[in-house]
Amino acid sequence: MIRIEDNFEDVLGKAMSGLGLNVDTLAAASGLEAAHIRSLLSGSINDEALRTLAPALRLSPTKLVDMAHQRWQPSVQLPDGVALFNTPFPVPGYEEMTVNSFLIWSGQEAAAFDTGANANALLAEVEKQSLRLNALYITHTHRDHIAALGAIRKTCPETTVYRPESEPLPGAVALSAGARHACGAFEIETRLTFGHSPGALSYIVTGGEVPLAFVGDTLFCLSMGKAPREAYAVALENNRRELLSMPNNTILCPGHGPVTTVRDEKARSPFF
Ligand SMILES: [Fe+2]
Repeated sequence: MIRIEDNFEDVLGKAMSGLGLNVDTLAAASGLEAAHIRSLLSGSINDEALRTLAPALRLSPTKLVDMAHQRWQPSVQLPDGVALFNTPFPVPGYEEMTVNSFLIWSGQEAAAFDTGANANALLAEVEKQSLRLNALYITHTHRDHIAALGAIRKTCPETTVYRPESEPLPGAVALSAGARHACGAFEIETRLTFGHSPGALSYIVTGGEVPLAFVGDTLFCLSMGKAPREAYAVALENNRRELLSMPNNTILCPGHGPVTTVRDEKARSPFF
C-alpha cells in the first residue's frame, strides 16, 4: 500500500505559494490569525480554522477537512497488463520519498512510463514475460523520473525514449500534444499538462479494460505537483481540462503516491 503523497498541510503550502500568499497576506485575506495559520501549516488539525482558510486558498473546505482527517484511502486495482513499480528516492528532509514508474503490455509489446529511482523490478518483469519494451515515455525530466534511464538504455538498447517537446533530454525523441502511438491493443495519446514543469506531458492509454492516464507530477491522489506561482493557474486548468474531463473510471497513475481515479479526484481533491 503506497501512502498518499501529500498531507493537508502540503496542500495548504502549495496553494499559498501558487497564489503568492505568505502567512501574513493569507491572514489578511482569510480573517484567520497568523498564529492559527502557522499551527495548521505545522500539521495540527482544526476543522473550523481549515473551513475559514479554504476559500482564500480557493480550496474546497469540506474536501480539505476530510483530507486532514484521512477519511478516505484509494483502493484501485490495476487491470491486467499494467504494473506499478514504487522505488525509494530519499532526499534530504524527505527520507521516505518514493517515485513510481509503470509498465503496460499487450501480447509481447510493452511500454514504460518514467524510469523510477531504479528500474530493476521493471526490467525483471520485461525479462520474465519476454516482452519487447518498444518505448519509454517520460512525463517530465525532473531527476527522480529519469534516474534509471541509463540502466534501461543499457538493458534495452532498442527502446525508443520519448520526452516532452520543451524539456530537453539527450538522445530522446521529442513529443508534442496530440501524438498517437500503438502498443499492441493499447493506444497512447499525449496531452500537454505543464505547470509543475514547463513542458510536462500526460499519456492517455485506451484500448484496455479501462482508460488509463500516466500523469507524472501533474496530479497526485488528493493533490498535485507543486507549480511555481506563474504556472499555478494554468496547472489547475490543465488538470481540469486534460485529465478530469476523462471518463470517471479513468485510472490516474501519478509519479508519487497511490493510483486514483478521475471520479475520486473530482469528488475528493481539495484543489477541484
Ligand atoms: Fe516533478
